[in-house]
Amino acid sequence: MTNDPSRLVLVASNRGPVSFAFAEDGSLTASRGGGGMVSGVMSGLAAIACDVEVLWLCTALSDADREAARRGDRVVEPGDAPVRMLDIPSDMFSAAYNGIANSVLWFVHHLLFDTPNQPRFGPEFRRDWSCYMAYNAAFADALAQECTAGTRVLIQDYHLALAPRLLRERRPSARIAHFEHTPWAPPDYYRLLPDDIAVAILDGMLGADHAGFLAGRWAAAFLDCCEAVLGARVTRGAGGAGQVRYRGRTTEVGVHPLGVDGTALRARGRQPDVSMHADALAAMAHGRQLIVRVDRTELSKNIVRGLAAYRELLLTRPGWRGRVLHLAFAYPSRSELAEYREYTARVHELATGINAEFATPDWEPLVLDVKDDYARSLAACRIADVLLVNPLRDGMNLVAEEGPILSERGCALVLSREAGAAALIGDEALLINPYDVTATAEALHAALSMPAAERRRRAAMIAATASGRAPARWLTEQLDALG
Ligand code: F6P
Repeated sequence: MTNDPSRLVLVASNRGPVSFAFAEDGSLTASRGGGGMVSGVMSGLAAIACDVEVLWLCTALSDADREAARRGDRVVEPGDAPVRMLDIPSDMFSAAYNGIANSVLWFVHHLLFDTPNQPRFGPEFRRDWSCYMAYNAAFADALAQECTAGTRVLIQDYHLALAPRLLRERRPSARIAHFEHTPWAPPDYYRLLPDDIAVAILDGMLGADHAGFLAGRWAAAFLDCCEAVLGARVTRGAGGAGQVRYRGRTTEVGVHPLGVDGTALRARGRQPDVSMHADALAAMAHGRQLIVRVDRTELSKNIVRGLAAYRELLLTRPGWRGRVLHLAFAYPSRSELAEYREYTARVHELATGINAEFATPDWEPLVLDVKDDYARSLAACRIADVLLVNPLRDGMNLVAEEGPILSERGCALVLSREAGAAALIGDEALLINPYDVTATAEALHAALSMPAAERRRRAAMIAATASGRAPARWLTEQLDALG
């Protein structure tokens, strides 16, 4: 470990940069962790590696991870930060992760509740909440052990909303930042939470010196909640940023949009495995225009309405039949939750229905694939004519930035105005209301009809804007905010 504590940066997140599996002989094999938060933090850390020393604390998510955690090694992949996995008891983890983080906080911030029926906060919720508190306390204990004067601590996401305050209690002089990768709910929706929980989450985050968000809208909603729920003194600055004064401390609230390292992504997109997939997908398209989407099968991603819009396009604009192919990559996600299993089934049903309704002997209108294959996703973005990104609400949505960067011919982007990315790159996209299926179908038509030169111009503008906000800048801004 470093002799200069001010060089040390601790990162804390639920999912970490590495995950383990048991090989047939019982040994442990390591692979990279997935998701937008992990790739953003990893890429940012790699770019500033000479200026800092890093230790990343994350949860052991599987039995193989727990075994690695028990062996106590600080796992290091070549060139990566050392990782300390916390061996949280699996029941406690499941209640905190599935019961609170994914079923309550994720639903609140993405406005996903079917409110006539859900949520219902009763004894089960209270049991899960006590596990969520214990899970956050386990992180605060581990961070406090690693922290010395001058150490900077970057705590990630809604899983760890209480950790900043708990760490502050253990290490009053720690320099703490919290970053939220989701949207933030407006006060009226946030107040669906039981009153004491609504207070505890905001109070937990305000243990940090700096609270970061991906878009001005989410930061502004957080400030509104601090004022409405806590009665905190809020000062509003430009673009959604501001300050919250609460319990004798000030927390700066910052807006840090996350972009993409365009050079690195393009280099990855030119690798042989990606080119092989690109050739195979192009052969499948057979000269037809390609509409591509790449998502986790996540309720907020709005895949069902995306498919409905494609169906409406084929119904109302029959001229596109036989001339377009929709590649929908929808990778499995959170299958422990019944809502996600039901949603996945609906996606499959709709996709089968579209093919049954419109396919001809020499044309299948839709290919839905659920196998998570990173190289193939990059390949699809490389050759896409149109990229469909229509979430109901999304912290940022990096695919909207990655697609135009990878695109060879220049793709037209149909983008939900409710994605955080819309604030950054929306000027060059065809923006849609994600609930409006007819408007989405019309945007797909406009995108397919857009002249090639205009697509190229827009994609180049998006690529330049996204590359200008590369993860190194995103991370450096947060570290600088800690002084
Ligand atoms: O959006 C925030 C985020 O943490 C992303 O990094 C990631 O895509 C997701 O939420 C968490 O996913 P998971 O539950 O699979 O770790």
